[in-house]
Parts: sequence; structure tokens; C-alpha cells
Amino acid sequence: MQVALKIWRYDTKAGERALKEYEFDAPEEATLLDCLDIVKDKIDGSLAYRKSCRMMICGSCGMRMDGAAVLACQKRMQPIVEAGHVPVISAMGNLPILKDLVVDMTPFWNKFWAMKPYMQPGYGEPADGKEHIISPERMRVIHKESLCINCGCCVSECNSMESDPEFLGPHALAKGMRFVGDPRDGAKLQRLEDYNSEHGIWDCTRCYFCNERCPKGVDPRDAIAKLGAESMAEGINRDMGAKHAKWFVTSAKTTGWLRETELVPKTQGVVSAIKEMKFALSLARRGKVPLPFPPHVAERVGESRKLYHLVKEQGRDGALGIVQGEHALRRIEFAEQTGVTTSDPEAK
Ligand code: SF4
Ligand code: SF4
Ligand code: FES
Repeated sequence: MQVALKIWRYDTKAGERALKEYEFDAPEEATLLDCLDIVKDKIDGSLAYRKSCRMMICGSCGMRMDGAAVLACQKRMQPIVEAGHVPVISAMGNLPILKDLVVDMTPFWNKFWAMKPYMQPGYGEPADGKEHIISPERMRVIHKESLCINCGCCVSECNSMESDPEFLGPHALAKGMRFVGDPRDGAKLQRLEDYNSEHGIWDCTRCYFCNERCPKGVDPRDAIAKLGAESMAEGINRDMGAKHAKWFVTSAKTTGWLRETELVPKTQGVVSAIKEMKFALSLARRGKVPLPFPPHVAERVGESRKLYHLVKEQGRDGALGIVQGEHALRRIEFAEQTGVTTSDPEAK
């Protein structure tokens, strides 16, 4: 097939960027990485990009296609060629470009190491003196996080990192959850304290781009939600984000609604609420703020209270609850698609 690519070239010495177009013949099964190899071998040997495994394992070949992060060795070119599209290839975002499609991964690895991505001492001897046995239910909590190949595609797309480069970011936090959720790790509380600091979990804007772009299904945003749930379960709730989430739960439990009028005093405190009074009054004048008294109680508030108590009784208010919810949704989807109901938690 005849392939056309536009590639953003970056000359570090001259500090110049240029969009260059290449056209060449490639086999029908070619991936984007195969096409870059053809450009480098046959057209311009100075093109710089990273690669190693060619099979979505090493995480080296992250880059952007049409502004969205991809693994070059995963992306098949045939449908793109058939659509008559000429994709624009550029380096990943949120990391400094070194040359062409190669970025400096130092900030990425610094955050990775800040997570202490190894088991911390403190776990007891295994009951049988030989090995730690962990239930499948507990392993499911960190199953997705264990699939990460450190490619950086999530970091490339993270909106919070774009406005705050110090934000720990989706990759590092997913790695953190990998260890927070492991019952053998002895530093869970310290880890959660660290991740609740400035630039930590509550700075995520929940844009979900990291979930969308991760080529391995790690779903880093879900990992951050699990870290939030674990923090709350451990009573680490000093951050405004945590107070925000806590108020939503109280609000849903007591009235069945999200009482947003009370959100600011409950999360930011009375002083901040007074400072926002002018803004609140202008919203109220336009009918955007329902009066807090008497509170609006939903007709079937009993349902929301029952749900709250069920979760509490089952002790599922940490990451386990999130994973249980994911599996329940999958079971419902499976039943709807096939007409077969199952209690098998593995059913997809
Ligand atoms: S959901 Fe959060 S961590 Fe993920 S890309 Fe958006 S801001 Fe970043
Ligand atoms: S979470 Fe996904 S996108 Fe992010 S580094 Fe790991 S594998 Fe890559
Ligand atoms: S070359 Fe290893 S993931 Fe693409």
C-alpha cells in the first residue's frame, strides 16, 4: 500500500521544528512503527524515535498520532490509508522533546521512583512459612495496575500535568495503587499520606484522557479513584477534594440529592464561604442556587440510604468497593447482551 505520513521533526541544535511529509510503499500489515522504520531505512536516516520489542511490551514507542498518544507498534496503518488520511506524527506531550519523536523521560522516571515502586518491608511471615497466599478477590484490586508497561501515553495526555508539571500524574499514581492495594506491602499508610499531599491525587481533573489513551487497559484514572477511596477508608481526608467527596456521600445519604448549596461551606469552610457570598448571591438571583432550607428530600431517599448501609455493612468502602462495582456493571452488561445471568465475578 502507498502510505503518506507527516512528521514533526525537531532539530535540537538549531532549535527548529518542521512538519515534513513522506510517501512510500509499505506492506499491508505495516504498523506505524514499521512505517517509521521504512522512512529511516530508505528516505531519511536522521529520523529519531524509540523502539524495542515491536509488540506492545517494552513501552518504548509512545508518540502522538493526530494529537493523541499511541504506541507506534500497535497502530495499524491500513485503515488509515484506506480512509485516504495522512496522519500527523509528533512527540508525546508533557515531556521535553530531545529530537524528533524522542522525549526526555527523566521527569517521568523521577515520579516513578518517588512512588517507591517496590514492596516495602513490614509484612509478616507467611502462615505456612513458605509463601504469601492472596485471594483472587484481593488481586483483582490491583490487576489492571499491574499491566502498566511505563510507556507514558497517559502522561502525554494528562490535562492536570499540562497546567501543573509537578502533579504526580496518572502513570505514577497507578504505580502507587499497585502497591497500596497489595496486602503484602508494609507502607500503605505512608504511601497514602504522600499521595494526598500537594500535587497528589486530588489534583486530578477527572478528564479520563489517561483511561482513553492507555494501550494496556490500566485505567489510571480508576487507580486514582481507588487511592481516594482507600484514603477515605483510612481517615486521610484533610484535602478539600476529600471533603468534597465526603459531603457528596453525606448529602446523598441524608436527602438523596447532591446539596450543592452547602458544598462550599462544607468543603472550604465558613470563611471561604463568606468570601464567595457575592458570587453565590448573583447565582441565587438567577435561580441557580436552591435554598438550603427546608432541604429538598428525594421521594425515594430510602433507596439511597439502603445502598449506603449495604456498602458499610459489607466493608467495601475502599478500593475493593470500586472493583466490585466494576464487576457488577460488567455482569449487568453481559446479562443484557447474552440474556444469561451469572454470579461469576470473572464474567465479562
Ligand atoms: S483523569 Fe486525571 S490523571 Fe487522568 S489524564 Fe485526566 S487529569 Fe490526568
Ligand atoms: S498506565 Fe497505561 S499509558 Fe500510562 S504508562 Fe502505564 S501502560 Fe502506559
Ligand atoms: S516497540 Fe515496544 S511497545 Fe512498541
